[in-house]
Order: sequence, then C-alpha cells, then structure tokens
Amino acid sequence: MSTAHYVGIDYHRWMMQDTKRTVAFRDALKAVIKPGDVVVDIGAGTGILSLFAAEAGASKVYAIEGGPIASIISKVAEANGYGDIIVPIQGDARKVELPEQGDILMSDCMGHFVLSDRMIDVVAQCRHLVKEDGIVIPDTCTLEVAPASLGPLLPQIHDWDEPMFGFDFSVGRPYAEHEAYRIQISPGMLCGEHEVFGTIVIGAPSQVWEKKMNWTFHKPTNVDALVGWFTAHMGGGVTIETAPGIQSHWGQMAFPIPYLQAQPGERLELTLRAVVNDMDYPEYSWWGGFYDTNNELIMEFKRDQAKRFDPDGETWHQ
Ligand SMILES: C[S@@+](CC[C@H](N)C(=O)[O-])C[C@H]1O[C@@H](n2cnc3c(N)ncnc32)[C@H](O)[C@@H]1O
Repeated sequence: MSTAHYVGIDYHRWMMQDTKRTVAFRDALKAVIKPGDVVVDIGAGTGILSLFAAEAGASKVYAIEGGPIASIISKVAEANGYGDIIVPIQGDARKVELPEQGDILMSDCMGHFVLSDRMIDVVAQCRHLVKEDGIVIPDTCTLEVAPASLGPLLPQIHDWDEPMFGFDFSVGRPYAEHEAYRIQISPGMLCGEHEVFGTIVIGAPSQVWEKKMNWTFHKPTNVDALVGWFTAHMGGGVTIETAPGIQSHWGQMAFPIPYLQAQPGERLELTLRAVVNDMDYPEYSWWGGFYDTNNELIMEFKRDQAKRFDPDGETWHQ
C-alpha cells in the first residue's frame, strides 16, 4: 500500500466504519489541535481525518493521498464547508513539498501488527513536513506478544493436513508454517503472559525489531503459536487497542510454532524478528525451542518468511 496501489472505495467505507478507530482519531485530534494549527494528513483516503482536523480548529489541512481515491477529497471538503481549509494533494507523500511546515502530522499508518503495509516507513520519510517540535498522531505504538493455543482456529496450517478434492496436500504444510497470519481471537486462547516486543516511535526511521523472550508454563498447556497485537498512543490520553477480544479491522497476528503439550516448569524460548523492507509486508522470522524442567532442549523450531517457498532449503539468514 505504501506506493498507494489501487484500493477500492469500499475499503475506505470499511475503514471509516471501524468506529473505535475512527472515533479515537477524532478524540485525539480534538484534544491536541489548537486553533490555527496547520495539519498534514499522510494517506488521507476519503479525507475523514482531514475533516476532523478542520472541525477541531485547524487553519489549514494538507490532505495528501497517493491512490485514485484522492479525487474525492476536494468534493468531500466542499460538501462539508471546509473547501477553504482542506488542501487536497494527489501524489506519493514521500515526494510532496509543502509551502509551509505543519504543526501536526497525522496518519492512519498502522497495518496489521502495525508493520504491514510499511506505511510507518512512509510517515518517517514525511516527518520533515512538520516542525521539529510538531506533534505526530499516533506518537507511538506498542507491540505485544503472548503464546497461544489456536488449534483449529488456525486453518491456514491445519487444512493442509486434510485431503483436498481427494488429493494429499500435506507437503504444503511446511510452506504454510513459515507464514504469519491475520486472525481474530478471544483472550481465552492465550496461554502465557503478554510481553512487549517493541515500541515504535511513529516518524522515526524504521529499524529491525528483534527480541528474545521466555515463558515458563505453570500448568499443563497446549501451545502452537505466538500471537501479536498493538496499542496505538494517539495523544490526549486516547489509545487504540487491538488485543485479543477486541474487534477491529486489524485483528491480531499469529506466528505458528510446533504444537507442544507443555508440562509445569517447561519453558518456551522464542526470538521474533521483523524487518521492514521494500515489500508491502515486513519479513518476519521467529525461532527458538521448548526446554524441560532440567533446561534440556525438547524441540527446536526455525520459521522464516523468506523460506516460505523453500521450506527444505538449507539457507538461514541469521
Ligand atoms: C489506512 S488508509 C487511511 C485512509 C484515511 N486516512 C482514513 O483514516 O480512513 C491509508 C491510505 O494511505 C494511502 N497511501 C499509502 N501510501 C501512500 C503514499 N506513499 N503516499 C500517499 N498516500 C499513501 C493509501 O492509498 C490509503 O488511502
């Protein structure tokens, strides 16, 4: 999406109607914007956030949109009486120059588990469009992870074990095991405490996120995935939460690991690594092992999206 490839109008309706998301942006903008502020909207879509900014008192809103939906922004602004405040600009935001620096930069730049769509990288490259002491909305996103027991709730893995149209496709499973999947689960599927994987400062240059984590199980537990979600800190005390149990268009992200019936005292050690690259999706890898109560390795795993079409290959990029 970062090169603003075509997304249809219904995508924008769907986004707007994720009410918790849209209201969080509106509340944060109301809390943060001072009368006369100049606001820059990166990836303005239909212009919904630009309208909120104008309504909150902005004197000018530069609404930058790279996709064909950009043509709607001037019409929406006019129809709502903000034609003299909202300035639509069609083009790749990374290449746009503005006549002045803004006070506030806002963008719904959060993809699945924030990093998908690499919009955070686009926003980082647009940081100069607002003053050094300007405000960025959201300002940070906290990524959290926890082990989970998903079982049949992860058909993306398990369906390969079943014949399809009478044919054995079980060779497909190792391919599927190297992918991360968008899911929507309840908190009851989690089987360990959540850990902070990383905190992304929106507007800062993108980096490689990597963290080694450990969970010791205190009762017999089935484990087959790591699940990730995020909290976006919007300013003015407003947050967007996407944890298991909260319905949102983001859902959560599942990273499949081998199934283990862990016994009390056994430990899962897992390192998750995310690299934002030139693709729409970051490249994830995750590896680690299960350890018994004597700290002996029971089972090891290595998963890497770079290997999704070469699951038997020897190359391992670490
Ligand atoms: C998640 S949508 C948000 C739309 C709108 N701001 C909203 O909140 O409903 C992100 C938008 O950013 C646009 N976009 C992505 N990369 C862009 C880029 N490099 N320059 C300009 N727009 C971009 C997409 O076309 C899409 O319309």
